[in-house]
Amino acid sequence: MLEIENLTVRYGAFLAVDRVSLSVGEGIIVGLVGPNGAGKSSLVRVVSGLVQPVTGTVRFRELPLDGIPPHGRVDRGIAVVPEGRGLFPQMSVEENLLMGRYRRGMGNGARALMDHAFALFPILQERRRQLAGTLSGGQQQMLATGIMSEPQLLILDEPSLGLAPIVVDEIGRTLRRLKGEGVTILLVEQNAKLAADVADEIYVMQTGRISHHGAASDLMTDRSVMESFLSVQ
Ligand SMILES: Nc1ncnc2c1ncn2[C@@H]1O[C@H](COP(=O)(O)OP(=O)(O)O)[C@@H](O)[C@H]1O
Ligand SMILES: [Mg+2]
Repeated sequence: MLEIENLTVRYGAFLAVDRVSLSVGEGIIVGLVGPNGAGKSSLVRVVSGLVQPVTGTVRFRELPLDGIPPHGRVDRGIAVVPEGRGLFPQMSVEENLLMGRYRRGMGNGARALMDHAFALFPILQERRRQLAGTLSGGQQQMLATGIMSEPQLLILDEPSLGLAPIVVDEIGRTLRRLKGEGVTILLVEQNAKLAADVADEIYVMQTGRISHHGAASDLMTDRSVMESFLSVQ
């Protein structure tokens, strides 16, 4: 569904992503894990259309995304939840959900999708008039899942950051549920355990390169991978 080929990102002279190739098959969860500074968010920003790569192509459903602005990518079915969640803290839960919908229009569909979001996260329904900025970290992450744009591909950049372990488990369950509904997911995480728990396939990224790629079950029992995690965490 998503194919990244030979991607290089530079910030001035600094090489952040070095010839990375990665693909995400339809209907699965792919984990991209690696330490802080590995280049994960830079890769995500290229897929969002916010950063121009020096080399490489990104294809979504076989079509290159070159030259397509960020909103055009949302229209094609790609939702990116950035690091830090990208909510509007001074707006209510309901308003934030509607903002996630504005590209697709505010007709009847929006109401049904909001009901769907509330069925998935009942706590958001209870708090629908509360300002997003006053929610707990876990509730903010639920609100930030991007489901209102009806994504085919959902990319989450470090959803577990700063959350208590019990809330991280809840995120894991939510991602499995979304997968069950047919959403393809690219989960970008420093938390290798969460990624290993939910992902089918994992890529490990370190200092701009992919160092390992394989089935989540194989990778987490691979001694060299475990050592590289232990050395970075
Ligand atoms: N806008 C930027 N300008 C300069 N350097 C940046 C910028 N964004 C990220 N970097 C650098 O690129 C490297 C990769 O960053 P990032 O993609 O955020 O990694 P990760 O998400 O894996 O932590 C880091 O060394 C970071 O300091
Ligand atoms: Mg990052």
